[in-house]
Amino acid sequence: MTSANAASTTNVATRAPRPHLYVASAEKTDDDSVLGQFIPIHYHYQMLNQEARVGGFEAAIAEVVKPGMKVLELGGGSGVLSFFAARAGASKVYCVERIPHVARAAQGFLAQNGVGDRVEVITADATDYLPPERVDVVICEMVHSAMLREKQLTVIANFKKRYRERFGANVAMPRFLPEAVVLAMQPVQANYEFHGYNAAVPMFLDGTGNGGRIGRMSFPAIYSMFEYNDDFTSHFEIDHEAVMETAGTLNGLRFITKNLLAILEHEGRSIDWDMNDLIIPITNPLQVNAGDVVRIRFRYDAGDSVLALAESVNREDV
Ligand SMILES: C[S@@+](CC[C@H](N)C(=O)[O-])C[C@H]1O[C@@H](n2cnc3c(N)ncnc32)[C@H](O)[C@@H]1O
Repeated sequence: MTSANAASTTNVATRAPRPHLYVASAEKTDDDSVLGQFIPIHYHYQMLNQEARVGGFEAAIAEVVKPGMKVLELGGGSGVLSFFAARAGASKVYCVERIPHVARAAQGFLAQNGVGDRVEVITADATDYLPPERVDVVICEMVHSAMLREKQLTVIANFKKRYRERFGANVAMPRFLPEAVVLAMQPVQANYEFHGYNAAVPMFLDGTGNGGRIGRMSFPAIYSMFEYNDDFTSHFEIDHEAVMETAGTLNGLRFITKNLLAILEHEGRSIDWDMNDLIIPITNPLQVNAGDVVRIRFRYDAGDSVLALAESVNREDV
């Protein structure tokens, strides 16, 4: 990151060294991607309890799934979204989950909730699973803030390719839920102080208020938006000159992820799920004034780790 208006910003090169969180690629283990991808049952409470997420999907599925439809859920977890599909009247739901103990738990919950006869839980890798018949709707919630860690894009791209191979190049694609995503980035001044202790760690914050931890320094810039039904890229990058709206310390980037769960064209609205914002610390903060222009660059691939994005944000030579 560089400041285009050097006269009014601090020279980043003269600063005292700051703690570096970021590991070199060679040091990385698989843990980050695996932990972000497969989710054991003891993490499902957190997801079941996210009102914006579960309530959003409940409303979207109720709008889109009609009686008699066939539905596929990729990454079924506890089975809650498959339950919503069955409750909306789907005659058959294929619910695919990679972790055997999670799949077993889902099977039990779905039976307990009275839809076990219509939801088939399959323990399989969603990357290479295809249902035995065409489906009307595919639900896939392997989304992480900024499309990091989880494999949503790989799983859906693979599904589309294999679905066409199986059912013909001109087969009508099912409707995907979520239908689209918008990704944006915003320069911020973040408060990384915890009981007197300063630790500029990546933060996941509720986008509705952000707990008072961030001040917005500039407007958000959209760096990607696409519909799952279209061709999409899994590479993201930005090279953006952000005009500062206010003076302060630019020490973080806020990553905003808006999922359009269902686009209701006839009503002119969508049912959205705004995910937690991800704040990536800037290791060499800039003192800025209103009107300063700061050049922001990063690049990453969907499914990358949080640290890979942090590394890209903080490289001077991207
Ligand atoms: C974010 S959770 C969502 C769970 C559930 N759909 C819900 O909304 O509560 C994603 C789920 O997908 C599973 N998963 C991740 N990668 C998978 C894969 N390649 N194949 C099948 N399941 C996978 C995880 O274990 C996890 O249970």
